Amino acid sequence: MVSFLLLNLFPLFFLLSLSSITTVFSDLEADRSALLRLRDAVRGRTLRWNASSSNPCLWEGVKCNNVTNRVTDVRLPGDGLTGQLPPNSIGNLSELRVLSLRGNILSGPIPSDLGSCTKLRNLQLQGNRFSGKIPETLFTLKNLERLNLAQNSFSGDLSSAFNNLTKLRILYLENNQFTGLLPHLNSVTKLEEFNVSFNALTGSIPPRLDNFPSQTYLGTFLCGRPLDSCPSNGNKLSGGAIAGIIVGSVIALLLTLVIMFIIWRRYRSPEILQHAANSPMPLSPVQLPDIGFPSPVSIITAAEDQQFSNSFASRKREGKVVVQGGNDGLVLFGEDVEMFSLEELLRASAEVLGKGRVGTTYKAYVESGVQVIVKRLKNVCLSEKEFKRAIEDLGSLIHENLVPLRGYFYGTEEKLLIFEPMPRSLSMVLHGDNRRSLNWEIRSKIAIDVANGIQYLHSLDRDTTHGNIKSSNILLTEYYDACPTEFGLTRLVSNITSPNLNGYQAPEVTDSRKISKKADVYSFGVLLLELLTGKEPDSVLMEDGINLPSWVQSVGQEKWIIEVFDPELIRFDYFEDQMVRVLNLAISCTAQHPDRRPSMVEIRRSINEICA
Ligand SMILES: *[C@@H]1O[C@H](CO)[C@@H](O)[C@H](O)[C@H]1NC(C)=O
Ligand SMILES: *[C@@H]1O[C@H](CO)[C@@H](O)[C@H](O)[C@H]1NC(C)=O
Ligand SMILES: *[C@@H]1O[C@H](CO)[C@@H](O)[C@H](O)[C@H]1NC(C)=O
Ligand SMILES: *[C@@H]1O[C@H](CO)[C@@H](O)[C@H](O)[C@H]1NC(C)=O
Ligand SMILES: *[C@@H]1O[C@H](CO)[C@@H](O)[C@H](O)[C@H]1NC(C)=O
Repeated sequence: MVSFLLLNLFPLFFLLSLSSITTVFSDLEADRSALLRLRDAVRGRTLRWNASSSNPCLWEGVKCNNVTNRVTDVRLPGDGLTGQLPPNSIGNLSELRVLSLRGNILSGPIPSDLGSCTKLRNLQLQGNRFSGKIPETLFTLKNLERLNLAQNSFSGDLSSAFNNLTKLRILYLENNQFTGLLPHLNSVTKLEEFNVSFNALTGSIPPRLDNFPSQTYLGTFLCGRPLDSCPSNGNKLSGGAIAGIIVGSVIALLLTLVIMFIIWRRYRSPEILQHAANSPMPLSPVQLPDIGFPSPVSIITAAEDQQFSNSFASRKREGKVVVQGGNDGLVLFGEDVEMFSLEELLRASAEVLGKGRVGTTYKAYVESGVQVIVKRLKNVCLSEKEFKRAIEDLGSLIHENLVPLRGYFYGTEEKLLIFEPMPRSLSMVLHGDNRRSLNWEIRSKIAIDVANGIQYLHSLDRDTTHGNIKSSNILLTEYYDACPTEFGLTRLVSNITSPNLNGYQAPEVTDSRKISKKADVYSFGVLLLELLTGKEPDSVLMEDGINLPSWVQSVGQEKWIIEVFDPELIRFDYFEDQMVRVLNLAISCTAQHPDRRPSMVEIRRSINEICA
């Protein structure tokens, strides 16, 4: 009887499992064609998906669930994507959990069929050029925990339908063009991080939202706690008085400005500027380390090569415009750069930030108010033509985890590189007074960011490497987004042959101009150890005659928690498991033999998995 039943059931079971297999296949096939529609509609340098491959799960930035065999994550941050998101692309990935397209150049509206991705938990669209209203369908995504639409051009009112997103923990809407009132968000009970700064919002801040700091509401017309209290509407007389006071102060301010401007014009002579250049510049938000150089100094005393003409008259190169800064030899990159001339740059007052293998770095304050980082290269060993080609290549590398190169100047004596300014370096924070702010969550994010940037460099071609990874070459934004700088520069200057030049250098390196990918991996491993231990690789080398990797390995694993990890890290957070796994990864990166070290792709994947 039993066996009869079994016999009868077997074919049914078999049929069921067969049909479920076929649906699984066709769904992945549908996901694949949805992704291909995205690929056709947006252009971007790193969107190099192999369209003839049948498995989209192997494509860069795409992750699948290996049980359901469906696409769950699409992460294409900072990949230079341009164009509009088409319908029937992202919207058809019905198992999508994570969508990150941050830091691209995408424009147009969010397609309303995004509402079909009902499992979406994390939506990161910040730093694009999206516009239009938030589609109503977005508010049906009840599983959303993180939503970031900051730094776009979204407009319209902030709908009270945000209250449908009850699981939301993080909501960033700053730097858009939202108008109207702030919804009360009483149902969004888990909201931890919130920002609506720099939108044209009006009215009072609802009670539920008044516990956020005032920086949540910068550059808005909102009132009430934590901002100034709202004007009471009724007392006409006092309203008029206030208006009078405001008009009066505005006139006084304008008068003062006019007078200051006249005085400034009158005294704007070269001698005065020379003096101004010698007076201390109080603009930097971070205390810079005093490294014993005269500071501030003028970058170059005399303009040179004025008649130097250049051949880069504005032309397009991979979506990036090279702009000529006048006929003075200064070349600036990018579409949105604020222009200044070589003369203005030379007149700028400057502060020494550091002196390294390739030259001295300054922070320069150009008269027009622009701040830039200027690197004055020493011992450049390339001809002008080679130099220009190399710099143009470096200037075309755009990635959210790399400090962008903004321009250069090649003169007979001076070779200058111009970079985007960043508030501080990792080394300053990690070895400065403020290291307590670096908890494990931030340090692991820094590690992920740096791995992203380096992996991007390594993905370009066989020879592209960073060449000089160390904590003073990792710059941090105010949100601790980490960006390596100085990539590719050691190739421009003459070789510095010196074994153990610093605590980051791989043992096999003999020529500072030839840093292999595996030597980059070694340096990255040392950087991980520095993040975990809080110790400076160079000073470890000095004091005990052994380097950081061998010191860490000399301590038995059972004593890591007490002896190896930075006490600041243990004190506030206890991500012991993650820290131990990253430490093991760092040890494998610093293997003596280059072949034993993992590749940057493997490293990035591991850190992401460990710290996700
Ligand atoms: C793309 O995928 C096809 C099929 O899997 C493969 O034959 C081809 O080599 C791949 N092309 C590249 C550039 O990887
Ligand atoms: C599926 O994923 C799990 C966890 O991510 C992993 O342990 C397992 O090895 C994977 N299975 C296959 C067949 O790849
Ligand atoms: C995309 O999804 C919509 C509805 O979810 C469906 O009607 C449409 O056929 C799908 N498009 C493709 C090309 O599969
Ligand atoms: C918000 O949720 C309510 C109740 O679940 C629903 O009736 C309404 O349509 C939702 N609004 C939007 C914009 O999805
Ligand atoms: C909100 O965003 C603005 C603009 O980016 C920033 O200045 C401010 O510090 C942010 N506020 C918080 C609380 O993070």
